[in-house]
Amino acid sequence: MSKLIINIKQLTQVRSKDISFVKPERMNELPSISDAFLFVKNGVIADYGKMSEIPNFGDIETINAKDKIVLPAWCDSHSHSVFTGNRSDEYMQRIKGATYEDIAKNGGGILKSSNQIKSISLEDLFQESKKRIKSLIRQGTGALEIKSGYGLSYDSELKMLEVTNRLKNSLPIEIKSTFLGAHAVPKNYKKEEYFNLVIDKMLPEFVDKKLVDFVDIFCEQNYFSSDDTKLLCKRANQLDIRVKIHTNQFNSIGGIRAGVDNGALSVDHLEVMTRDDINALKNSKTMPVLLPGCSFFLGIDYANARDLLSNGISFAIASDYNPGSCPTGNMNFILSLACNKLKLTTQQAINAATINGAYAMGVSDKTGSISKGKIANLLITDKIDSIDDLPYYIGDNLIEKVLIKGEEFN
Ligand code: NIG
Ligand code: FE
Repeated sequence: MSKLIINIKQLTQVRSKDISFVKPERMNELPSISDAFLFVKNGVIADYGKMSEIPNFGDIETINAKDKIVLPAWCDSHSHSVFTGNRSDEYMQRIKGATYEDIAKNGGGILKSSNQIKSISLEDLFQESKKRIKSLIRQGTGALEIKSGYGLSYDSELKMLEVTNRLKNSLPIEIKSTFLGAHAVPKNYKKEEYFNLVIDKMLPEFVDKKLVDFVDIFCEQNYFSSDDTKLLCKRANQLDIRVKIHTNQFNSIGGIRAGVDNGALSVDHLEVMTRDDINALKNSKTMPVLLPGCSFFLGIDYANARDLLSNGISFAIASDYNPGSCPTGNMNFILSLACNKLKLTTQQAINAATINGAYAMGVSDKTGSISKGKIANLLITDKIDSIDDLPYYIGDNLIEKVLIKGEEFN
């Protein structure tokens, strides 16, 4: 039950438990203790400090982390990691010149994944997703938000949410479930007709079944409008459910303003931004979530992280793991991309992938930093020279051990 990590070269992201996210002017700081110990009791961080001041913990299981860095596990606040099948055919079409939007118009994209979800049993979807998420945990993810949105019918959305609920009960990491019924309009439906089904029937019934932590919508041309987004926010607020919004991926159509004005927890993507979008985010409690893996894979613009910082706006980074626009949930790779393409320092990227990510999925009181009383979801790196080695070795995971609630995850 107890565990001690000793001789830690650098214990990184050490913060007081009441810091729920890191402000932009502080994102370049990663408070650390060199030559440190960390003590875990009952799955929780119970103590930490300098080796020179280590108390006598008696005869307990001990990990020697000499020359290694210890940091909080990744908090991936945006994923569609419950899915089946793949869309490698579309990848090849895009390489030959088709756009994401072209493919969607021809019945591919989200609608293709939705057909694949319809024909798989709940049990098989659960087993497939569990295997996938176990591999994410081995890569260092200790908190994961999972969206529905490939069901696009009452029964299939319910199936996805039930799978996520079973994952919550069978995996040791923090999992949050987001209902994304308003992801696309299914065939044979008018947009209004389907959207009404989402907000009048699916949302309240799924909330009632306790399957929903958050609700999401794809606010984009040819999908759902900013008025739809406002209405969804209002309904969610009545049900006491926070909103996360896919917006500004291809066009700026008012999704950010709608979200901020209606108390959204996060606005995600933000590859295309206007001055009004930036102004809406200033001084708001809504966390922007940037998804560089999606820009990389689709070959679209990257979000302008530097512009957010210079306007006093914090943000998180997340994977967006899904079969269409980012078929990886490897947060080590996302960290590398964030440094390389969003031009972040290692410190900014780690803050964005830990405590700010935790905030964007409502778990920053439990995880995302090395703080007494938070759960012991920890990464122990290989022997490395510096924290900068993490983003530098692109495509490599320099994580030697992942501890979830203090237990090594294999
Ligand atoms: O976040 N943009 C909307 N939704 C997903 C992609 C879904 C898909 O293409 O399957 C995203 O990129
Ligand atoms: Fe997404």
